[in-house]
Amino acid sequence: MSDQWGFDTTAIHAGAAPDPATGARQVPIYQTTAYVFQDAAHAARLFGLQEVGYIYSRLTNPTVAALQSRVAALEGGAGAVCCSSGHAAQIMALFPLMGPGCNIIASTRLYGGTITQFSQTIRRFGWSAKFVDLDDLNALRAAADGNTRAIFCESISNPGGYVTDIPAVARVADELGVPLIVDNTLATPYLCKPIELGATLVAHSLTKYMTGNGTVTGGVVVDSGKFDWSASDKFPSLSQPEPAYHGLKFHETFGNLAFTFHSIAIGLRDLGMTMNPQGAHYTLMGIETLGLRMERHVANAQTVAEWLEQDPRVASVTYAGLASSPWNATAQRVYPKGAGALFTFSIKGGYDAAVKLVDNLKLFSHVANLGDARSLVIHSASTTHSQLTDAQKIAAGAGPDVVRLSIGIEDAGDIIADLDQALAAASA
Ligand SMILES: Cc1ncc(COP(=O)(O)O)c(C=O)c1O
Repeated sequence: MSDQWGFDTTAIHAGAAPDPATGARQVPIYQTTAYVFQDAAHAARLFGLQEVGYIYSRLTNPTVAALQSRVAALEGGAGAVCCSSGHAAQIMALFPLMGPGCNIIASTRLYGGTITQFSQTIRRFGWSAKFVDLDDLNALRAAADGNTRAIFCESISNPGGYVTDIPAVARVADELGVPLIVDNTLATPYLCKPIELGATLVAHSLTKYMTGNGTVTGGVVVDSGKFDWSASDKFPSLSQPEPAYHGLKFHETFGNLAFTFHSIAIGLRDLGMTMNPQGAHYTLMGIETLGLRMERHVANAQTVAEWLEQDPRVASVTYAGLASSPWNATAQRVYPKGAGALFTFSIKGGYDAAVKLVDNLKLFSHVANLGDARSLVIHSASTTHSQLTDAQKIAAGAGPDVVRLSIGIEDAGDIIADLDQALAAASA
């Protein structure tokens, strides 16, 4: 594998040599739970982490390992650990950093499921989250306290497609001595490489653009390998003897791979949120065309957003690639290849018109997913956000007149024609 390869070469080749046993050119699906040890001493060395190898597929698997290497290479990380979903990846990213009483500072602009995970579910572990508008760096500094262990944001956020100024947030994370974790699901490493911009960890839902066709549920955490876990006493699981692994000191033993080894040896071992080899295989195949797809996704999104914005039936469009967006300058500086392909728009005519629009779309699929080759639509107020009050829906960017679009890689003219006929039906 070459460090000199361009993005598309890396996307096709990283982590995937021909199979040593058969010569198979595509990465095989190693559909096995366990691996035969050479002898008792070999088994003992593997369990003691004195030798790296395969023990049991809850921990490691060759197909999953190929995907880990490929995503680590694309993100410029030292190592990566795949998980059963994007949501699992978020817990796995926090797990080595947190303990009871610890908190994270999370952006207010996040996928709704992540807001629930951070505001409700992680409290059961004794962890908590403070939500801050990360455009306000002083508010970010003010929110930090002695128990803060990480800052979490999405590079491009779901559902609005707003963008985070990662270099600015990373500088504050450095000041505070805590890692910045970036969910890079909507940007993918094609549009944004958070590690180059100062992030410590990158999380992904592989379910979306990375696989790219709505066939897999998966996630990954990539470690930059750049954070000094021993610089303070904040991260004892990595810097101090780890009681969950007979007192092993992960940072001292594994250096820049401390987070990755901890995530596999303890995170996957005890939380068990493992990716399956078949899902990893599909994701590897999807990633081969990531660059081509993302180029078309963003070109189509820009064209569709511009068309919607000038349409008199449309009230507003959130796409950060539009000159009218308050995030446009940040998008051009931090995301020069494009502002992703997910955004919302509101239709004149309120709830009834929005629902009618969704019902009349023919090319778009009405589903709770994004990042598919197909164009997707959802009316959040009547689905994902239906339990909220009207005021809460509006605060979440899911008001009654708002529709979320995930722009696919079909012909832009066909996408616009579909929106045009559905807008006509909805506005009639
Ligand atoms: C930005 C973002 N992060 C994480 C997730 C969670 O991913 P998964 O559904 O694979 O658990 C989603 C799901 O929509 C998402 O949009």
